[in-house]
Amino acid sequence: MPTHAADAATRRRRGFGAVIEDQFALRQLVREYLIPAETNNIWYTLGGVLAIALVLEVLTGFLLTLVYAPDAGRAYGIVKDLLGDGLWAVITNFHFWTAYVIFGLVMLHMMRVFLTGGYRGGKQGLWTGGVILAACVFLAFITGESLHWDEVGFAVPWHISEFFQAIGLATAVNYTFAQLRDIAGATERLGQIYAVHISVAPLLLLLFVVLHYYLIKVKGISLPFWLKETGRKVAFSTHIAEWFKYSGVILGAVLLLSIFVQRDAGIAPQLIPSSPLFGSPHGPGGNGAKPTFPIGWTHGMNVFFGQFLGIEPDIWGTVVGMVIIAGAMIAVPFLDRVDRAPRGWREAFDWRKRGWAFLAVGLMWFTMILGFVVNFLAVPD
Ligand code: HEM
Ligand code: HEM
Repeated sequence: MPTHAADAATRRRRGFGAVIEDQFALRQLVREYLIPAETNNIWYTLGGVLAIALVLEVLTGFLLTLVYAPDAGRAYGIVKDLLGDGLWAVITNFHFWTAYVIFGLVMLHMMRVFLTGGYRGGKQGLWTGGVILAACVFLAFITGESLHWDEVGFAVPWHISEFFQAIGLATAVNYTFAQLRDIAGATERLGQIYAVHISVAPLLLLLFVVLHYYLIKVKGISLPFWLKETGRKVAFSTHIAEWFKYSGVILGAVLLLSIFVQRDAGIAPQLIPSSPLFGSPHGPGGNGAKPTFPIGWTHGMNVFFGQFLGIEPDIWGTVVGMVIIAGAMIAVPFLDRVDRAPRGWREAFDWRKRGWAFLAVGLMWFTMILGFVVNFLAVPD
């Protein structure tokens, strides 16, 4: 029998799964793609768990789009109803808590890559792509928080307005406080935020995740310096199995949290007549609204600038915080003066060669932690 006919017969016998594997060349990408055995450990699995969390975020997000409407007069009520409605409450909670997990995994994954010098060997571009991924996650989080549209969510366009006012463009881009306090004006802004949340941010994430994987496949991966190098190779499918194992544990815990822990809908935003804050002369910050933890450093930096340094408008705190954090992250691979990945604890913590890179990472953490702490301690301004 000619070979292609034999192949076709084998495929038929192995069923639909084999056809998919064959048609998408998955065998070459998964079972025949060999990776170093040492990378099958939790610290090298975080990127994969992150990707699975992102896929679940897209799926639950898609379900939420079936019931959500970016209408400034109704959005808060919709989310409040969802949180009180059995299965929808679980979906909404899962979307919310998985966003926390994504934030945590980005930070952990980045620190693992930093310590193992994963950007060495011409992979500075891969790291820079990672920084863009982190920025996209931040964008998705901050826009998602706004969609909830309680007084905390309302703080997002409020701060965007403050920024446009600070650079003198608020009227030109229709982002004044007066326009935000009006339901029709606010609906236009909420629609833009919604578009970024469900389209721009996920598309950018997809693009850069694909680029990330392509570069890792072509350029190779570093090795965990705390393990002895064996030279042994295993199929990538074993690594994917690890992704699912750890995702099962982490996201399983998130699912339990989403089922059993009820979440409060928060206070209705000040622009809707039924809100206890309706007609408030203050912005959300003045009414005591604080962002959720992963983006809490932004408000903390504002308070630090406004109340501690006396710099107004305090939105410059967020801007300066972002510039320091992004600048420090981008600089890391260019400050690290070793051109191959470390081969032991001593090389990983070699201050003479890695001192500046550690300093950049330290500056990033210092800025974030300062923001988190000030946010935690802040009283209404
Ligand atoms: C949405 C976010 C991200 C996803 C889905 C992702 C995914 C992955 C995956 C699956 C790997 C393979 C090894 C592993 O899992 O540890 C990896 C490696 C890598 N990632 Fe990410 N990553 C993300 C964010 C980042 C960030 C924020 C950075 C740095 C700023 C980064 C830089 C790198 C580098 C340089 C490597 C190569 C590591 C090595 O050779 O050891 N990634 N990423
Ligand atoms: C990295 C990806 C994403 C992150 C970090 C994220 C984060 C969030 C957060 C924190 C909220 C607020 C939830 C709440 O307070 O209850 C939210 C809401 C929402 N998200 Fe996402 N999201 C992501 C992707 C998506 C995608 C891809 C879609 C749509 C396809 C989506 C659709 C929605 C909708 C409709 C809401 C409003 C309903 C609600 O507030 O629960 N999200 N998102």
